[in-house]
Amino acid sequence: MTAVRPNDLASFWMPFTANRQFKKAPRMFVAADRMRYTTDDGRSVLDGTAGLWCCNAGHNRPKIVEAIRAQAGELDYAPAFQMGHPKAFEFANRLTAIAPEGFDHVFFTNSGSESADTALKMALAYHRVRGEAQRVRLIGRERAYHGVNFGGMSVGGIGGNRKMFGQMLGGVDHIRHTHDPARNAFTRGQPEHGAEFADELERICTLHDPSTIAAVIVEPMSGSTGVLIPPKGYLERLRAICDKHGILLIFDEVITGFGRLGSPFAVDFYGVKPDLFTVAKGMTNGVVPMGGVYVSGKIHDAFMSGPEHLIEFAHGYTYSGNPIACAAGIATLDTYAEEGLLTRAAELAPYWEDALHSLKGLPHVVDIRNTGLIGAVELESIPGEPTKRAFSCFLDAFEDGLLIRTTGDIIALSPPLIIAKAEIDELFGKLAEVLKRAA
Ligand SMILES: Cc1ncc(COP(=O)(O)O)c(C=O)c1O
Repeated sequence: MTAVRPNDLASFWMPFTANRQFKKAPRMFVAADRMRYTTDDGRSVLDGTAGLWCCNAGHNRPKIVEAIRAQAGELDYAPAFQMGHPKAFEFANRLTAIAPEGFDHVFFTNSGSESADTALKMALAYHRVRGEAQRVRLIGRERAYHGVNFGGMSVGGIGGNRKMFGQMLGGVDHIRHTHDPARNAFTRGQPEHGAEFADELERICTLHDPSTIAAVIVEPMSGSTGVLIPPKGYLERLRAICDKHGILLIFDEVITGFGRLGSPFAVDFYGVKPDLFTVAKGMTNGVVPMGGVYVSGKIHDAFMSGPEHLIEFAHGYTYSGNPIACAAGIATLDTYAEEGLLTRAAELAPYWEDALHSLKGLPHVVDIRNTGLIGAVELESIPGEPTKRAFSCFLDAFEDGLLIRTTGDIIALSPPLIIAKAEIDELFGKLAEVLKRAA
């Protein structure tokens, strides 16, 4: 293979990247197959993060590649508004067929960020069409990540993602996050302590008057903020408080959707049902940008009133239900079904968990947590230099042929769901050496 290194890196302003650091010592992938990337200098790198939590079936999967090729040659684009094409309906049917009971409708977007904003807008509009237009408040949670658009950022709770961008949406409040290492460090699976953090929602309801609150949005399991797993009983309590006050509950399943926890969705895994939930990433195996919002019949049907020639929900994107994305999505669901990937994480989880927790006791490790095929290793920060230790581990791991992801001083792991036990051993073998070398 010919190595290609663009000779000018200046034009591309890279997202969520230390641009100057990167451009001094670029890290380039030029190919990928199943569990591994190839770098421009010909090295093989084990994918410990499924790209960005999205390539659940691994890379270069033949069915998906072929579906995209075929679709591009047949119907490349069709207008998304007031026109349809069969693949969008087929994909929506396939998606609702694997959804938890009652989620009979899906609205297409192009990313997790758009899915979050779409869900928030649906919630506001739902109350309005039912005559409860005073429900305008949205409640998020500290340390939450719902993407980078104004709605998702406003209900999101990662300080560094918010501080540069002004006042954001009005009428937003946040409950506290659930991270509690003092009581829960080195927990395997759901922590014992912290269900009571959900009661903050009652406090916020009292403060604002619950009849002004449209929706609460949470990630059932927060990935981007460093893998925060819901304490036992926590999601159930949130659901109960929302029910008591007529507030919609939105789950952001952009990371947890499509098998990451060992069930098709976190809704199945935790047995708690929201009113709407968002997806993206694994929806097309990360290959073509796409997202969606799953909606219960209650929400959808509330919009289906009034004159039939009128648009019921004034929202959508030029690329909502794009034919190539839908073709990729259908082939992705075929691949997941053929290989049992929507539940494979459940089989591997015990092995994964033991391998991950074997890192306990290595230098700087202050917490380890896991669920499904997800793991986090939290490191003690270098005094006065937060994020530096984990970022150095990321660079070292890459040199050693392993892709990990870091957020703050937390290493997050989420490999493709096709990972073999030998590859789990390889991943944690390499990571252990990285941690031993860490300054
Ligand atoms: C829970 C959650 N919501 C939303 C997003 C944003 O998705 P995107 O980057 O596709 O806009 C992410 C991305 O990591 C996410 O983890």
